[in-house]
Amino acid sequence: MTTPRVPAPTAPGPRGAPLVGNASDLKRDLYGALRRDFGRYGDIVRYRLGPRTVHLLSHPDLAQQVLVNHAAQHPKIPAGNGLGLLLGQGLVTNDDHSSWLSQRRMMQPVFHRQRIAGMADEMARAGSRMLERWRVRYRPGDTVDVADEMMRVTLDIINRTMFGADLGLEAARIGPAIEEGTRFVNARSQSAVRLPMNWPLPAQRRFRAAKGMLDGVVARIIRERRAAGRGRGDLLDMLMEAQDADTGERMTDRQLHDEVITIFGAGHETTANALSWAWFLLARHPRVLARLQAEVDTVLGDREPGLEDLARLPYAGQVFQETLRLYPPAPVVSPRLVLQDTVLGGYAIPAGSSLLISIANIHRHPDFWENPGDFDPDRWAPGRAAKRHRLAYLPFGAGPRLCIGNNFALMEGPLLLALTARQAEFRLQPGQAVIPEQAVTLRPRGGLPMTFHPRR
Ligand code: HEM
Repeated sequence: MTTPRVPAPTAPGPRGAPLVGNASDLKRDLYGALRRDFGRYGDIVRYRLGPRTVHLLSHPDLAQQVLVNHAAQHPKIPAGNGLGLLLGQGLVTNDDHSSWLSQRRMMQPVFHRQRIAGMADEMARAGSRMLERWRVRYRPGDTVDVADEMMRVTLDIINRTMFGADLGLEAARIGPAIEEGTRFVNARSQSAVRLPMNWPLPAQRRFRAAKGMLDGVVARIIRERRAAGRGRGDLLDMLMEAQDADTGERMTDRQLHDEVITIFGAGHETTANALSWAWFLLARHPRVLARLQAEVDTVLGDREPGLEDLARLPYAGQVFQETLRLYPPAPVVSPRLVLQDTVLGGYAIPAGSSLLISIANIHRHPDFWENPGDFDPDRWAPGRAAKRHRLAYLPFGAGPRLCIGNNFALMEGPLLLALTARQAEFRLQPGQAVIPEQAVTLRPRGGLPMTFHPRR
């Protein structure tokens, strides 16, 4: 006699309201709700969002299964009505495996560590421009919106590295348009009801105007660059020259266009948020700040840092990595689809439902991190990371869709931290509340006002 197979149970989760399920609770405070429900229900939490079922996964083994081992069974959910409105069919939002793969193969070499290394000077120059602007604009003790300043500098960096010498009035219009577009997509990602894009509402109208302008400027820059036929060695050139190693194909103008906007969109807000959180954490941990300052003062003295200094500024790197652990700028990976009924962590996961992998929860999982809430850059001292689960730390995602800009960010972040820490520090007001808000990225709600204190 065969024993009947016992079906896997459904995962636990908050009950939610009739019809809408958990939608309004998640909308109110997505970051807080995902943290709280991980604490209450564990590694797998089931939500209902109207007719849809979503599972929150917060364990490195589950991330490994979905993002790495069975990535083909868990494609990205089409983002056409969200982030895709801004980024088109670029690398982040492309959900068609074969065209994504071809794009990825072309772009991978562009983001190789050695090619990115050539951009360090441009990054340091943008940092110096920022410090010079502060010197003129702020007096000691003035309040500065650190979140806003970090956005400006990372946007300046992506602009210069993308367009190099072509940077003129035209390219200067891209930044504000990207900001407008990102704001709209962020707000849309948080709203339970997504109103049609062609409705004549002020927000949709502003978005359409910004996107139209962006498309026009990027198309014109690409056209002019193709016509000029001269190489400049910037990111745009590298993308134009990129070839599929097997087929020899290059990108069409449309692909190039979407990838340029994607790199702007994906490549500045994430790093800016990481840096904002770093200044917040440093202000709350004066001993860590003092150690960082001692390192930059000893290594750099009166100089600005360059690429060759990064290896001699290990603590700046550790501070940046630990910040990415506590406040991962992408707190969840893009939702993945379940193509076939499956079982994850002992629970039944139905086909057609979606999976939300929480980087933020995994980064504070008590089974993998000692005192997970503590800001302790020494976790990243040489040798210590080797003992961890491979996916207990995944700020850049994992598997085939791993962030292509990780080397870029890991150079830019510590470089800007070191450069700024040499010249200035920021302080919080006593008792100042800073609340993380999760839209597409994790940022301080309402900005990050801090007082500015030059060091030299
Ligand atoms: C601290 C900074 C950054 C963080 C935390 C971050 C995080 C991530 C994460 C988690 C993913 C995977 C999303 C998923 O699987 O759903 C991703 C993908 C991506 N990131 Fe980043 N990112 C950062 C910086 C950058 C930069 C600087 C660039 C470009 C210059 C960039 C470009 C991209 C692109 C193009 C993808 C899509 C890759 C693909 O699907 O093939 N990112 N990023």
